[in-house]
Amino acid sequence: MNYPNTVKLVEVGPRDGLQNEQKLLPVDTKVWLIEQLADAGHSVIESGSFVSPKWVPQMADSDLVFQKLNRKRGVTYTALTPNEKGFTNAINANVDEVAVFAAASEAFSRKNINCSIEDSIKRFEMVIDAAKKENKRVRGYVSCVLGCPYQGDVDIAAVKYATDALLELGCYEVSLGDTIGVGTPKKTCQLLALLLTTINSNRLALHMHDTYGQALANILVGLDQGINTYDASVAGLGGCPYAGSAKNGAQNASGNVATEDLLYMLDNMDIDTGVDLKRIAHIGNAICAKIGRENMSKVGRVLN
Ligand code: HMG
Ligand code: MG
Repeated sequence: MNYPNTVKLVEVGPRDGLQNEQKLLPVDTKVWLIEQLADAGHSVIESGSFVSPKWVPQMADSDLVFQKLNRKRGVTYTALTPNEKGFTNAINANVDEVAVFAAASEAFSRKNINCSIEDSIKRFEMVIDAAKKENKRVRGYVSCVLGCPYQGDVDIAAVKYATDALLELGCYEVSLGDTIGVGTPKKTCQLLALLLTTINSNRLALHMHDTYGQALANILVGLDQGINTYDASVAGLGGCPYAGSAKNGAQNASGNVATEDLLYMLDNMDIDTGVDLKRIAHIGNAICAKIGRENMSKVGRVLN
């Protein structure tokens, strides 16, 4: 096995996690969470989303979150921007870096951002052009890379198409989303084998939801294939609001791999992340207590 000495973590709990909470949280709680995560060593924190407040009311106050945030030097605070309006709002909120999000499934694209994959790529071209003018880096996401809540199986050629399109437009990296956590190591291996025939591993990241408990196994495949960036969510918070109420077990689509679980594995493989597991476990238990929800991290529950 050929594992790296260091990997980069992207903490997505404040966005991917909190976008899915039924209860709307106070701005101060969100700010507290992001500041704690930075203090625990995270260098990239997805802190909000400039999407339609009608579609995702949980993220409607992202501008206030960015305004109130006490930013730590060396930390990149990022946000989702699905279109030019979102990008303008993100710039006004002084976001460090933005992300656009496409899908490998036509059905999911329409449910999530109300347009076809093709149209989304055109929208993102405008966002990326605007970002270049503002000197902002743009990350890309491709959702449903290992399965879709609406259409079921997803052809890996469709994942390659969307990933190539985002990289060609100018995204510096594409994060591959197993949005409903249905992937298994064999499928992850097949997908990465195809993508890595033409894409350098340093331009890919994995964003593994943990619905069926396969996230760490899939990440291990990624590590073996040379992927060095992983998204994770403190306490396993979250899910995707447009990944529920459909077939294929997506009703209970759960959050991203818990940061605590990933850190436990990486720390014990001598892979450095710069993030402190004990502090993250403490933050995970604290945010769960504040929200009044169960901690989805096995490691977080042990370290309580
Ligand atoms: P739309 O309704 O088609 O937009 O939504 P529209 O352009 O027709 O505009 C309709 C109204 O929305 C207008 O307002 C616009 O101004 C407003 P009105 O005139 O009716 O008052 N509007 C906006 N307001 C604020 N911010 C904006 C914005 N854009 C338009 N940016 C849209 C299209 C993309 C906006 C909508 O579908 C949307 O917001 N979708 C976001 C859904 C979302 O956030 N999903 C979760 C994140 S993705 C995810 O979780 C997956 C990921 O984690 C990876 C993985 O797990 O796979 C990333
Ligand atoms: Mg997600």
